[in-house]
Amino acid sequence: MTGTFKEKIQAIAAKYLVPSYYGYAFPFDADNPLSVTPEEGEYIHDFILDKGIESAIEIGTGTGYSGLYMATALKNLYTIDNGSCFTHLEHPREELRTLWESMCEDMGLTNIKFLWRDEPFELPKVDMLFIDGAHGGDLPYQDFVEYSPHLKDKHWVLWHDWDITFVRDSVAKTGYNYKLISLPHTYGLVIAEKK
Ligand SMILES: C[S@@+](CC[C@H](N)C(=O)[O-])C[C@H]1O[C@@H](n2cnc3c(N)ncnc32)[C@H](O)[C@@H]1O
Repeated sequence: MTGTFKEKIQAIAAKYLVPSYYGYAFPFDADNPLSVTPEEGEYIHDFILDKGIESAIEIGTGTGYSGLYMATALKNLYTIDNGSCFTHLEHPREELRTLWESMCEDMGLTNIKFLWRDEPFELPKVDMLFIDGAHGGDLPYQDFVEYSPHLKDKHWVLWHDWDITFVRDSVAKTGYNYKLISLPHTYGLVIAEKK
């Protein structure tokens, strides 16, 4: 596939996904808007390059769309899903993995590891955590607590679909000093930077 990384990702989205009221969804699940928007994807891609971030964990693989934007800027991406948005499918894990791997192959990416949350795996220490899994109650905070041990001392945590108040309260509980950046994308994208 030729073109810039943005053109390639858009071609892959057109092939495997359907536009939703924001971002993209799977064709078999068109009313379930799952993905980040192209604008968010590009912002995150550029942010990763700008900060020299090399490795990241994503909670919530979803359509795989956000993963493409991140992996084109990273050395390694570990993306984790629990399949909870796809329990209505007959063979969700097989279907999703086939789609994700096809998208990566089309993109020429070999640096994404797809992981199921309930299966055993090992994670190295990474520079960045992107939280976009469960969105109810304090579940994103619980994801933050569970995956923080896999973050290097200096790191970034990106919270998709959360406002700055929730993130400020969450990081305050760590006792560490985080610098927060809140971006007016869709339902909110907040970046917490720990130096
Ligand atoms: C909003 S979507 C992720 C969108 C994705 N980042 C993208 O751009 O396509 C949320 C995803 O998180 C998964 N999920 C929900 N709760 C989860 C959890 N506790 N751990 C891991 N994944 C979870 C769902 O199955 C769904 O695929």
